[in-house]
Amino acid sequence: MIISGKELSAQLKSDMARQVAAFPEKYGRVPHLVVILVGEDPGSVSYVTGKAKASEVVGIRNTTIRKPEEITEEELLEIIARLNADDSVDGILVQLPLPRHISEERVIAAIDKSKDVDGFHPLNVAALWQKQECVLPCTPKGIIKLLKRAGVEMEGKRAVVIGRSNIVGLPVAKLLLNENATVTIAHSRTKNLAEVTREAEILVVAIGRPKFVTADMVGEGAVVIDVGVNRDPETGKLCGDVDYAAVEPKASVITPVPGGVGPMTICCLMENTIECFLRKQK
Ligand code: GUN
Repeated sequence: MIISGKELSAQLKSDMARQVAAFPEKYGRVPHLVVILVGEDPGSVSYVTGKAKASEVVGIRNTTIRKPEEITEEELLEIIARLNADDSVDGILVQLPLPRHISEERVIAAIDKSKDVDGFHPLNVAALWQKQECVLPCTPKGIIKLLKRAGVEMEGKRAVVIGRSNIVGLPVAKLLLNENATVTIAHSRTKNLAEVTREAEILVVAIGRPKFVTADMVGEGAVVIDVGVNRDPETGKLCGDVDYAAVEPKASVITPVPGGVGPMTICCLMENTIECFLRKQK
């Protein structure tokens, strides 16, 4: 079975659009998401455009602030401080990666926790690991929604996550744990990686290398979630971390790239923006 994140996200966005349509009468306005993009990286430009389009579909107000690569950290921090203080702004997202002269750590920590729609702020991350109320990071949240929609039982399953980034690997492992899966976090330096991944009933791959996961690394009937967004070095086309053509016949469930996890990330960003907005309403 191929799980389409595109289809599920379209359904969820249409549900949210109905919800948001009632907000002007109920609360006097709609949620407002501000996205900051530094530089011209084509991947980042495409993500930011996707976020603006989804906002339009859902009926969320979107402001995209584009700044040149040369912006200083101080200038960026000033923009964030201004947005933090602006009551008409519900969500603030700084598209990553940032140019090397800017500290991502300082920038993420500068965003008000209550407006951190990415769920990257250290206080949000701490809240997640301490089982407190928090904003869930978009990609991991989207993956769990996809698994549930596909009817994948997680409780008691052996899950393997390849990748240990703050954005995907670590939080998705935590969310799988919350669903009572038993989780192994593997990475590029894991010894005998194929032996580990072959045991996985649920395999989540977020390593950022085209066709990294080959058929011999996947057990028969595994659920395979591909978080990779790469360019195929041969064709130049978008491809995942999984060699899809080789792995698909072995998997019971698999997500395609594009059209799998990606649309769910943006969908959950919309949900997080609505959540941050609603928390402010009394
Ligand atoms: N770059 C790649 N993925 C993400 C994401 O989810 N949020 C932000 N802010 N930047 C990203």
